[in-house]
Amino acid sequence: MNSSCEEGEQNLVQMEASLQAFFNLSPDLLCIRSSDGYFCQLNSVWQTTLGWTLEELRSRPWLDFVHLDDIAFTFDWERQCYLEENHTPIQFKNRYRCRDGSYRWLSWRLSPYENGLSYGIAQDVTQNSWLGSEAYRAELQEMVKLRDQAIAASSVGITIADARLPDMPLIYVNPAFEAITGYSPADVLGYNCRFLQGNKTDQPAVAELRAAIKAGENCTVTLLNYHKNGTPFWNELTISPIYDDYNNLTHFVGIQSDISARVRAETALRVEKNKSEKLLLNILPQPIAEQLKQLQSSLAQQFDQVTILFADIVGFTPLSSQMPPLELINFLNQIFSAFDKLAEKHGVEKIKTIGDAYMVAGGLPVPQDNHTEAIANMALDMQQAITSIQARQGKSFQIRIGINTGPVVAGVIGIKKFIYDLWGDAVNVASRMESSGVAGKIQVTAATYERLKDKFVLEKRGDILIKGKGEMTTYWLIARA
Ligand SMILES: Cc1cc2nc3c(=O)[nH]c(=O)nc-3n(C[C@H](O)[C@H](O)[C@H](O)COP(=O)(O)O)c2cc1C
Repeated sequence: MNSSCEEGEQNLVQMEASLQAFFNLSPDLLCIRSSDGYFCQLNSVWQTTLGWTLEELRSRPWLDFVHLDDIAFTFDWERQCYLEENHTPIQFKNRYRCRDGSYRWLSWRLSPYENGLSYGIAQDVTQNSWLGSEAYRAELQEMVKLRDQAIAASSVGITIADARLPDMPLIYVNPAFEAITGYSPADVLGYNCRFLQGNKTDQPAVAELRAAIKAGENCTVTLLNYHKNGTPFWNELTISPIYDDYNNLTHFVGIQSDISARVRAETALRVEKNKSEKLLLNILPQPIAEQLKQLQSSLAQQFDQVTILFADIVGFTPLSSQMPPLELINFLNQIFSAFDKLAEKHGVEKIKTIGDAYMVAGGLPVPQDNHTEAIANMALDMQQAITSIQARQGKSFQIRIGINTGPVVAGVIGIKKFIYDLWGDAVNVASRMESSGVAGKIQVTAATYERLKDKFVLEKRGDILIKGKGEMTTYWLIARA
């Protein structure tokens, strides 16, 4: 290095030292900031005012030291520093964080940026500012008192746990917590809140809490807790994390509500709902009940092929004159209950009873291919059921069955006393098959015969005159093949 170069460098170091000395003379906070967001030069007043060393202040973006609530407007002022073309200094106030966590109000005069640098002078005006004033402190005290009163008056339990201490002990519980759990602050402060749990406490809910606590997140669960006297209660618990300005998790707040009455009411409601659901399914097929619940006022659906069976008790009228009405109904109930069980067994839909007649159909409301077979099996089983009832009761009666296969419209119409019913010519013909039949026999149409002939024994009855239809060829269903 030559001597003029060395001289120049010495001069530069000397100038910088005298500039720093000059800087330090000022009672105000002086700084030079570069457009990369960092301080380049600071005087010692920064350290005496905020407590940070100059190194610490230079090592982080200066915006890191600004109060969280002041960042937005400070940023706006900063943008003006960039845009200001008249070289007019910009003035505003904001709060800077001290090393001990407190804040100081600084009143700024900032030069606009030139060559990537901006010069600033700030005065500590905390004492004159609203925040530093007695009035502010008094208002703050009032506010804290008001919040304490609100927390104490709350009807839900409020708890605070210290997340920095081992096992996260409770450091505050409000009076409602004592009312809900029976535990006083003296009983619980210093302990983890899990003492409320017992052998029937829901473990998945506890696991959810544990995971939220580990992740430092919010969580709401409903779990079974135990009162100090041992009585269980349903606790709807929300826990929320609290973070300090440095994003460290410091506390958790817990909100406890005793929702036992609600849970009891919901359980009772569920039981009642299940009962009415069961009742509804007794009246209507399940898919139809589901559709009706979705508020479709009337619903009817076309089915291309279903098989319909009508059965009538022959000799019922003479029986009814021999028996007291109640005994007669019991007897009919026995027969129809046996038929209901058979309908369930064969997967066919009981439609209704009309006096001493019974109507059932196969292939709806969910279409199925083997509906004619299912109805034929049902008819043969109905005959067998009648034989065994006859034997048990010692009464002489028979049933007459008629079956037809064809298209129908099925559904629920009207707005009251719902019933799932069928309409169409195929229904009338099935009814005629029964009325024109013979006691103890099963009469079927040609359409039904065609679908059964390979699997059942059938006999041609011949051509008979059917009211409203003219001549029809019909068959007797005798047995399974
Ligand atoms: C603020 C706070 C309040 C809590 N309140 C309850 C409570 O009312 N009932 C309860 O069963 N658990 C409560 N817990 C959860 C337990 O203290 C504990 O975190 C939970 O059982 C999972 O942790 P563990 O597996 O260590 O028991 C609370 C937790 C916190 C942080």
